[in-house]
Amino acid sequence: MATVQESEVRKAVKERYAKLATNTATESCCTSDSACCSPLLSLDGVPTEATSVGASCGSPLSLISLKEGDVVLDLGSGGGIDVFRASSLVGQSGKAIGVDATPEMVWRARETASKYPGKYQNVEFRLGEIEHLPIESNSVDYVISNCVINLSPNKKQVFNEAFRVLKPNGKFVVADITVNQEIPESARKDMSSWSACVSGAISDNEYRNMLESSGFVDIRMEELSKNEQKPSSANSPDDAYPFEVSSMHISANKP
Ligand SMILES: C[S@@+](CC[C@H](N)C(=O)[O-])C[C@H]1O[C@@H](n2cnc3c(N)ncnc32)[C@H](O)[C@@H]1O
Repeated sequence: MATVQESEVRKAVKERYAKLATNTATESCCTSDSACCSPLLSLDGVPTEATSVGASCGSPLSLISLKEGDVVLDLGSGGGIDVFRASSLVGQSGKAIGVDATPEMVWRARETASKYPGKYQNVEFRLGEIEHLPIESNSVDYVISNCVINLSPNKKQVFNEAFRVLKPNGKFVVADITVNQEIPESARKDMSSWSACVSGAISDNEYRNMLESSGFVDIRMEELSKNEQKPSSANSPDDAYPFEVSSMHISANKP
């Protein structure tokens, strides 16, 4: 992958999602430049304060059967859509934890939980980077994530961290964006496109190889949809665009 400044990516991503978190609009957050948007998610029972800032590309929870007592960790939990959904499935003896690097998202998700006294006692939102998880090793049954890992400038470290925090036999189940071609350097450097879940995406093969080298086994990938996305940079070479980006469900196990 072309070299990008990690600090630049993190700044652009936080700026975009801070804006989304503080936007009080109730309409969908989907925009034409963003791949992080899919109607797949069932939003029944999820607080509207969370759904109005949702930016998902699949439904990782539809791939697993959570049970009472399970501990679920959501990487890049945003407004908390999947954390709130998981909360009701794992019950009071379980736990649903969200980690997000954008303070405004974490504050918003915490505020949403506090509006429903007694309902989300098994929910916690922690501020942190998914490359440096504020989570104990071997403590989680499921690591989930929805349209976030493509945004990370260091995906290998995300997979290493997911592996570390999972209990033995724990499951990694995510929705994410992948691309069908090498993204040229000019587009990789387009921070607007990166933060819109396009330019930071990697291919299915790279994804699989990184998961494998972090120790995961039984890796499965399913394409949910495919469409063309144009990075927003005006001076990008025409022949390199648009990319075909795919929404994927990806799962893997920790032995
Ligand atoms: C596209 S939104 C998805 C939010 C949520 N998963 C959903 O489905 O609505 C991406 C979220 O990931 C967070 N994020 C991006 N990169 C991150 C990183 N490296 N560490 C932690 N959070 C990150 C952003 O702050 C944002 O809230």
